[in-house]
Amino acid sequence: MVDIEHPKEALAGHIGMERKALEPCTIVIFGASGDLTARKLIPAFYHLCKDKLMPPAFRIVGFARREKTDESWRQELRAALDQFSRTKPVDENVWKGFAANLCYCRGDLADAAAYKKLEELLTSFGSGPLRENLLFYLATQPSQFGEVVGEIHRAGLLHKDGAGWQRIVVEKPFGHDLASAHALNNDLTRYAHENQVCRIDHYLGKETVQNILMFRFSNSVFERLWNRNSVDHVQITISETLGVGERGGYYEEAGALRDMAQNHMLQVLSLIAMEPPVSLEAESVRDEKVKLLKSIRPLTPDDVARQVVRGQYFAGMVNGQPRPGYRQETKVKTDSNVETYVALKLLIDNWRWSSVPFYLRTGKNLPMSASEVRIQFRPTPNVLFAAQCGNHLDANALTLRLQPNEGISLRFNGKVPGMSLGVRPVRMHFSYDAEFGAYTPEAYERLLLEAIAGDATLFIRRDEVETAWQIVDSIREGWDGKPLTNREFYAAGTWGPIAADDLLAQLGHAWHEPLVIK
Ligand code: BG6
Repeated sequence: MVDIEHPKEALAGHIGMERKALEPCTIVIFGASGDLTARKLIPAFYHLCKDKLMPPAFRIVGFARREKTDESWRQELRAALDQFSRTKPVDENVWKGFAANLCYCRGDLADAAAYKKLEELLTSFGSGPLRENLLFYLATQPSQFGEVVGEIHRAGLLHKDGAGWQRIVVEKPFGHDLASAHALNNDLTRYAHENQVCRIDHYLGKETVQNILMFRFSNSVFERLWNRNSVDHVQITISETLGVGERGGYYEEAGALRDMAQNHMLQVLSLIAMEPPVSLEAESVRDEKVKLLKSIRPLTPDDVARQVVRGQYFAGMVNGQPRPGYRQETKVKTDSNVETYVALKLLIDNWRWSSVPFYLRTGKNLPMSASEVRIQFRPTPNVLFAAQCGNHLDANALTLRLQPNEGISLRFNGKVPGMSLGVRPVRMHFSYDAEFGAYTPEAYERLLLEAIAGDATLFIRRDEVETAWQIVDSIREGWDGKPLTNREFYAAGTWGPIAADDLLAQLGHAWHEPLVIK
């Protein structure tokens, strides 16, 4: 029994599942001189080391074109850690022990001789697990994945079956449509089994996103309401105050639909709506996610016109700061039709969710940075409190606050104290910080650890990626050849185009602003 008087201690003992000891391994980062290595990967490995979660022996090899020595690479990363570490100051003792495992290998991704040199370096670590257990992090352009995978295979570093284990880690974009994703997946699995490929969606590394499954399937109170009988509709919002900034070149190719909906939003949706898996094994969880994505009703071009709203920001103010319009951003075409905002109404054709609308929205330069899921329950029959509330008796809502102010809130009605029968909504809040303290590992820490451990639950399987692209492709087809209309623009600092409000108004719904917890 969990002792509710001492929840923290009790939970640590009851729920902390033992992780199998990690085997020694070498991590090779291709494209190691890029931003990702200094900002995310090295700080994450440093913290895993600090928390004593790395394998008993490991090496991290940076592979890139620039001329560097082991020492100069370490110094560069040390300086970057001062800036990007989530804990400060950097612990010198931990850093010293960690840095001794960092090596640099200069080489061009297209040069077979460079992979030979890499092979020699790995062999110099001995003939054991540091040579055989290899995690390849492809921090390169997706167009280079096929080449890198082929070269590491030819250098004798990657096998489908053989000694030790080898895994490939890649990040989005996984293609720009179904056809290109399919080709990319073929490249990745030419010399590796599907279960050797770890496709990262950093949203799955977030504690609050992982908690969706725990919350749904470890509480009898909510799960029995989690269906069309009790839920009126669901809203998933991922809003950002940032504009596209320096990423105009990338964004012109992506847009909000490819950048956020294809991956993060559909991942959150599948966790919120999937059926209970047979077990917590990776394949069981991923089977259910794919089933859910496949149950989303396909959109014809006419449906797209009715159910999908896109938008692009023009100049405005976000939190008192002036922002340029999207068409004025660096590397953006002055007549660009790329969407910086998208809102969708999706229907899930299965037994649990039939006719319950799922509204998803995401955008840049919105008034608030927040990710949350709101489960809006059906209202009660309006018979008792019509005198007090008219038609406005509030319906219950459960909000999963994914970030910031991580936590969960339940909104219900209560009597206003006093002599009258006044009723108004009140809230109950759970906050991660208050309950568990401020331990918030970066998503990358969790994901890198899972990649080393070989647990695929938090990685996206090939069929998940491809099913998500099918949905996104059908939306893009609906937009093809249709430039943005006036109704599809919004001022930076507002909640998107008016058309997004009309989308919900079709069924008498309205967007709820993300909760701010003081
Ligand atoms: C990335 C997108 O995948 O996710 C960015 O490319 C976006 O455009 C980011 O800003 C949002 O992530 P987070 O963790 O800040 O919500």
